[in-house]
Amino acid sequence: MHQDVSEILFSEQDIAERVADIGAAITRDYKELAGPAGIVVVCVLRGAAMYTCDLIRAIDMPLEVDFMAVSSYGSGVKSSGVVRILKDLSSDIHGKHVVIAEDILDSGLTLSYLIKNLESRGPASISVATLLRKNTPNQADVNCRYVGFTCPDKFIVGYGLDYAEHYRNLPYIGVLKPEIYQ
Ligand code: PRP
Ligand code: MN
Ligand code: MG
Repeated sequence: MHQDVSEILFSEQDIAERVADIGAAITRDYKELAGPAGIVVVCVLRGAAMYTCDLIRAIDMPLEVDFMAVSSYGSGVKSSGVVRILKDLSSDIHGKHVVIAEDILDSGLTLSYLIKNLESRGPASISVATLLRKNTPNQADVNCRYVGFTCPDKFIVGYGLDYAEHYRNLPYIGVLKPEIYQ
């Protein structure tokens, strides 16, 4: 275990199993509905990069993967309260069935903003597949069709999640020792 991590919440194997479950559920829900056109999986960079790569390989139907980069945390541990689009999608999602792949729902600001933004582009449908949903007080009301794990209100890193851009490469999800960011 990394020396800056106090506890592993979800092991590499825990994550692999849940991602496989979510992929199977998406396949079940969309295969017929979307038909040969398939779905568009929108990866929310940078945190969801790893999760998206694993998730799309667990979905057994035609799909397109597209990337959007948004940021609300910057290098701190608290949301700035403002979501900025750093990179937009490459393709038009009009008339498409969209599944947003996000690593974590914390305050809910990022996903509320994204859903509203993508909805304005006229997709056939939008759903959210979040790997983690944090038990955060006053979390925005975001409808997540697929949730991998719920997690405690602690600062967590790994499997894509960072603190000041570090720790994304840990293969597990763990709690960052408070002395690292205090
Ligand atoms: C993190 C995380 C989610 C978002 C969740 O992204 O990856 O996208 O915050 O927090 P919220 O529910 O409070 O909005 P961040 O802004 O750190 O950018 P990153 O993905 O590039 O790390
Ligand atoms: Mn993110
Ligand atoms: Mg971040």
